[in-house]
Amino acid sequence: MHPGFGVYIHIPFCAKKCDYCAFATFTDRHQLTSDYLTAMRTHIRRSVADSMPKATSVFVGGGTPTLVPADELISVLAEIPLASGAEVTVECNPDDITLAMMKSFRAGGVNRISIGVQSTVEHVLKSLGRTHNPENVVRSVAHVREAGFESFNLDIIYGAAGESISDWQKTVADVTSLDPPHVSAYGLTVEANTALASQLDRHPDDDDQADKYIIVDEIFSTTGLNNYEISNWAKSGHECEHNSLYWQQGNYEGFGSAAHAHLNGRRWWNVRTPERYIELVTAGESPESSSETLDAQTRKREALQLLVRTREGVPIGSFSDGDLDEMSELLEQRQDRIVLTRAGRLLANEVAMRLIDTV
Ligand SMILES: C[S@@+](CC[C@H](N)C(=O)[O-])C[C@H]1O[C@@H](n2cnc3c(N)ncnc32)[C@H](O)[C@@H]1O
Ligand code: SF4
Repeated sequence: MHPGFGVYIHIPFCAKKCDYCAFATFTDRHQLTSDYLTAMRTHIRRSVADSMPKATSVFVGGGTPTLVPADELISVLAEIPLASGAEVTVECNPDDITLAMMKSFRAGGVNRISIGVQSTVEHVLKSLGRTHNPENVVRSVAHVREAGFESFNLDIIYGAAGESISDWQKTVADVTSLDPPHVSAYGLTVEANTALASQLDRHPDDDDQADKYIIVDEIFSTTGLNNYEISNWAKSGHECEHNSLYWQQGNYEGFGSAAHAHLNGRRWWNVRTPERYIELVTAGESPESSSETLDAQTRKREALQLLVRTREGVPIGSFSDGDLDEMSELLEQRQDRIVLTRAGRLLANEVAMRLIDTV
């Protein structure tokens, strides 16, 4: 298990709902911002008083954290006790990033920025239901650098309706030319209850997505961006600490509506709407909505399912000899570990189903 402690902060506001997005975010509740941030500060103070450990990583996600005034966001972060060298990330929309905002974040202790680029091709962005102008990405990265951030991430998505192979090559080339220390590239997934879910003709094609995965991995592997989890590439030393904590079943607290938390096998999540969250915290009650406790066997299995997706891989005995033979194109041995090959990363879910239960 990861030895650190993570903190997730959820900002549930967006300017517009993207067609593919199933996150608990709202476009009509910005008037709650101030009360919501006050409730989060109260909730954090209570957890600190209840001996919350110092955070080794903090991730402010959403939603769109850049819709909240920077100084107010920083006042929430200021409540969180940090371990020395803690990673503090804020997810940002390229349309909202200004130099002043980035300087405020930096001065307020943020040391990593994650930008939702998605694509640099205008018709693909439109197809995803995104509003930002690709030129803002170049400007945003310049501001991030000028404000003194050494670490930042760019999120991109492949497989939108109408995205050709050359559109994707352009996005990958444009992103590469910005020389980012970290990139997350996600295959577009159809989530229930999204605008995309009801539009069958716009659903991604598996073969097209596999081709695009190979393209991104081949290009990044020549530019010093190393794949360290199926959808994540980083220059050495820029791997995301917060995600690594999730992948190693670390403990973390979640503040804000719909935020998830985990402590030694017990997982819980907060109520979904910001108004309910504000109401409960203000009344001195817990905002927890539900929880589950994993038995030891399930935890071990999940540990392997998460690890097999990373470059660290799983111990040799995690697969039967027969399965290792049968999946020789998908798995390879590195010292005493078994890791996915590139072909294996494309079929990770199927491979993970063959993990042996009792390791
Ligand atoms: C929690 S979202 C929020 C980030 C920010 N609001 C934005 O959209 O730029 C984090 C990332 O998840 C990815 N994502 C969200 N929904 C997705 C989906 N249905 N399929 C693939 N990637 C998705 C996007 O790349 C997005 O940048
Ligand atoms: S993808 Fe990001 S910007 Fe779009 S609705 Fe979801 S959280 Fe908001």
